[in-house]
Amino acid sequence: MDKKLRKAIIAGNWKMNMLASGVKTYSEALNNAMPKEPSCEIVLCVPSPLIPALADAARASRINSGAQDLSEHESGAYTGDVSAAMLRDLGVKYVIIGHSERRAYHGEADLTVNAKVTSALAGGLIPVICVGETDEQREKGLTETLVAFQVKAALCGVSADALKGCVIAYEPVWAIGTGKTATAEEAGRMCGFIRDLIKKDFGEKVSNAVSILYGGSMNAKNAAELLARPDIDGGLIGGASLKPEDFALIITAAG
Ligand code: PGA
Repeated sequence: MDKKLRKAIIAGNWKMNMLASGVKTYSEALNNAMPKEPSCEIVLCVPSPLIPALADAARASRINSGAQDLSEHESGAYTGDVSAAMLRDLGVKYVIIGHSERRAYHGEADLTVNAKVTSALAGGLIPVICVGETDEQREKGLTETLVAFQVKAALCGVSADALKGCVIAYEPVWAIGTGKTATAEEAGRMCGFIRDLIKKDFGEKVSNAVSILYGGSMNAKNAAELLARPDIDGGLIGGASLKPEDFALIITAAG
């Protein structure tokens, strides 16, 4: 299937960086540097306290608001957590779920990732579900086994229709923030592997509709080659999304 029929998405992940006071300047610089009619969906996943400033700045631009995590619970006594409804209320459209940093530093297991996916969908948010192997798992030849497990676990109980509205990001942990990018061939092969898994479990129509992104040291230099692969529908970009000029170049590379 022609990948142009799927939504191309370039999503920035600011992680725990930047301040609300810098959002306006950033988005003005991004708007000036990126194409006037970008063909991809542009998303910025920012820390929760920055979301109102982003929503303000995004109103007059092509930028969509994204969050970096959400609670699996609807509401209640969950100190420090943020619900899907709270994010929706601020105009958030996308939410990253199961990022390797949440899995590693917050002990987020696949069951929780699945519960968060369910919660995001129920709350009308588009989950960007992150999967990917560590260096050690890769060296042991466990990449496919691990990624298949993570994808299946994250999507457990999700309907075929709901899955069409999800985004999956293949992010090899060894490539995140390390400057070591997967080769376009490797990244493309793993995104294709994920699409095949979805095809087997949910059918071809669904697998053709789901946007699958690559993440892990994507930057202005390597973006075009990665994004040219037939199964890579976009990118989840950390470090290089912090500079509006670099992020704009990646948006440009998406065509
Ligand atoms: P990176 O981060 O682009 O800095 O490697 C990607 C991510 O963690 O989503």
